Amino acid sequence: MRAKAAVLYEAGTPLRIEEVEVLPPQRGEVQVRMYAGGVCHSDLHVMKGDLYMPTPVILGHEGSGIVEQVGEGVTSVQPGDHVIPIWRVSCGACEYCTGGRPALCDVGTQVRVTGLMPDGTTRFRINGTPVRHFAGVSTFSQLSTMPEAAVLKIPQDFPLDKAALLGCGVITGVGAVVNAAKVRMGSSVAVFGCGGIGLNAIQGARIVGALTIIGVDVVDRKLEYARKLGATHTINAAQQDPVEAIKELTGGKGVDYAFEAIGLPKTIEQAYAATRKMGLCVVIGVTRADVRVGINANEMVYAEKTLMGSLYGSSRPKIDLLKLIDMYRSGKLLLDELLTRTYPLEQINEAYAALERGEVARSLVLA
Ligand code: CU
Repeated sequence: MRAKAAVLYEAGTPLRIEEVEVLPPQRGEVQVRMYAGGVCHSDLHVMKGDLYMPTPVILGHEGSGIVEQVGEGVTSVQPGDHVIPIWRVSCGACEYCTGGRPALCDVGTQVRVTGLMPDGTTRFRINGTPVRHFAGVSTFSQLSTMPEAAVLKIPQDFPLDKAALLGCGVITGVGAVVNAAKVRMGSSVAVFGCGGIGLNAIQGARIVGALTIIGVDVVDRKLEYARKLGATHTINAAQQDPVEAIKELTGGKGVDYAFEAIGLPKTIEQAYAATRKMGLCVVIGVTRADVRVGINANEMVYAEKTLMGSLYGSSRPKIDLLKLIDMYRSGKLLLDELLTRTYPLEQINEAYAALERGEVARSLVLA
């Protein structure tokens, strides 16, 4: 079948809207008619060349859609089902999958790095030339064929625009707080970077009952979003030293938990420096592959600080995404406040330009 998709031909060049051929699902695969794709920073890393990816490729890893057709042997969904794509394909059998950490599955890494389906081929063609997938899901296409393991059926009555926010930004940010850091009630939290992921770390901290929640960014508009989602204090790091400011707000100690949701050495070092004795600093932001950070090793020992990373909210997406849906319905999880704008697929480059300017909490491109 033919569909419109946003194609990246070369890092550093704009996405091009193309007519692509989408091959039918093979055994164990599902074809999804996308409703929306989320405009997330990870795609931008690939567009800019910070994250290497063979091209041509159809990006997009967050979204929602409706199952169009299923391949042989597919049991968890059928045509007409509403689904959220899961951007970390997992095999379901390795020690990480069976141990409850499917995002760490090696199959997911392989799919992400090669841009191929687990069998080493692709389901997209332009004039007969294969086009790669992004993270196995490629949500910036009207139609996308993906592994069954990469789709989760959601309730039919749940709004598809809200659903499209959950698959990356919400689960990654909330999950880093709940699953990775296990933030305790009454504690202090700082979040560096108030974009789609950071805002959800802030909302995760609010949900678990953190008392002091400090949002740090250099764009005032994003600090406003941070307050809407639960930040009790905000710091514009362009105007004041965030480490000093955080210490001031915490009686000179620093925060119990710091989250870095940008992926820059400087802010990772700042987040670590703003973490108190015995505190925990969690890196969520994705950096360029060659980036190193400077951490004072003695500070780690004498202050007994922990530095850790969190991928995909350290979550079990197929369980946690359904919980997040219920949390939205119960009023605990804010999604309306996150969804700032929608764009038609044709305007995807503008959507990314607005993201770079810090104008949106989260935006969607509608297929
Ligand atoms: Cu993302």
